[in-house]
Amino acid sequence: MNFRLAEGDCAPSHFVLPSEPVATARNNPDPNPNDRERLVSGVPVGDDSSFELKLRPQRLAEFIGQNKVKENLAVAIEAARSRGEAMDHVLLYGPPGLGKTTLANIIANELGVHFQPTAAPLLQIKGDLTAIITNMQDKQVLFIDEIHRLQPVLEELLYSALEDYKLDIIIGQGPSARTHTLEVKPFTFVGATTRAGLISSPLRSRFGIVLRLEFYTPTDLKVIVERSAEILGVEVDDAGAEEIAGRSRGTPRIANRLLRRVRDYAQVRGAGKIDEPTAKAALGMLEVDQYGFDEVDRRLLLTIIEKYQGGPVGVNTLAAVLAEEPDAIEEIYEPFLMQAGFLNRTPRGRVATQLAYDYFKITPTRRQSSLF
Ligand SMILES: Nc1ncnc2c1ncn2[C@@H]1O[C@H](COP(=O)(O)OP(=O)(O)OP(=O)(O)O)[C@@H](O)[C@H]1O
Ligand SMILES: [Mg+2]
Repeated sequence: MNFRLAEGDCAPSHFVLPSEPVATARNNPDPNPNDRERLVSGVPVGDDSSFELKLRPQRLAEFIGQNKVKENLAVAIEAARSRGEAMDHVLLYGPPGLGKTTLANIIANELGVHFQPTAAPLLQIKGDLTAIITNMQDKQVLFIDEIHRLQPVLEELLYSALEDYKLDIIIGQGPSARTHTLEVKPFTFVGATTRAGLISSPLRSRFGIVLRLEFYTPTDLKVIVERSAEILGVEVDDAGAEEIAGRSRGTPRIANRLLRRVRDYAQVRGAGKIDEPTAKAALGMLEVDQYGFDEVDRRLLLTIIEKYQGGPVGVNTLAAVLAEEPDAIEEIYEPFLMQAGFLNRTPRGRVATQLAYDYFKITPTRRQSSLF
């Protein structure tokens, strides 16, 4: 287990030592290096970020789907604007690529304030965070991505800033050390995480608005594909957009990535336009099947079915067999497989469902079907 506290840290009272190596996410710079090349990964790969800037919706009205989240934000934004105050702090959580960073940006745009993004792994010592907080503009949005990886000492520093816009800094060392309290300008803090379970409860309780992003419906994804196609200047018909949307694992980032790859195929092999046959041929060539599964998903499900008689099998065992990080399995692969109904998480481990057996055309034994 490579869990460790940062040097010089002492564990605050709420800091619970995990029995499983889940908390490695705090210190692990990249939960899954293999995922970098994966076409249907929710995390950004390759040249995603340069395209995302162009494709990212700027206003709430342009943001497709997530109606509950949008409604909550619209009310909070309107209220803050009419009072002329900073908005309540917001925690956004959900799997990678569903629009957390996009929404943080939109909040600042809608409030008409400065947007300052950073990420917890970039903040290593108290001075990093103190510098940001003391230089903030009035009512601005401070966005900290991957908030579950914030060092415990920095988290404690943040508490008073979030609660009463004050910052306690210690000047000097030893017996002559003094605490100074600095006033901080009112601000809206937006935290984002893919692992809400790793956030300490004291931090969590400081967010007035906690919003969970869900996987998108194929209908919403189709609209996203059409919107992105228009921005990229590529023609896509109804059935073509539907085909891409259906294989995007409920994730806009994947939809945009598949769209770009299909566009390339259409330009080289077709007439440049994305219709159903072009989309099907391109996605077939890229080995993304009709569910949006790729080799890794198939390997994961097959391992459970063939090596562990359908499960239950613990995530650490599964990770070892697949030569992946347990974090990556929990954070990246499993959420969609569970949402699609191919995998179940039980207290004793992961179980393949009837759907998974059907997918591979394998008939479950009687013992296995009793698990469904
Ligand atoms: N509702 C949406 N409508 C249209 N496009 C969207 C929507 N949500 C996300 N996108 C697109 O998906 C891309 C990825 O979204 P974003 O970077 O906000 O995801 P994220 O949740 O922050 O991911 P991560 O967990 O990796 O930080 C954006 O660049 C944007 O183009
Ligand atoms: Mg993000």
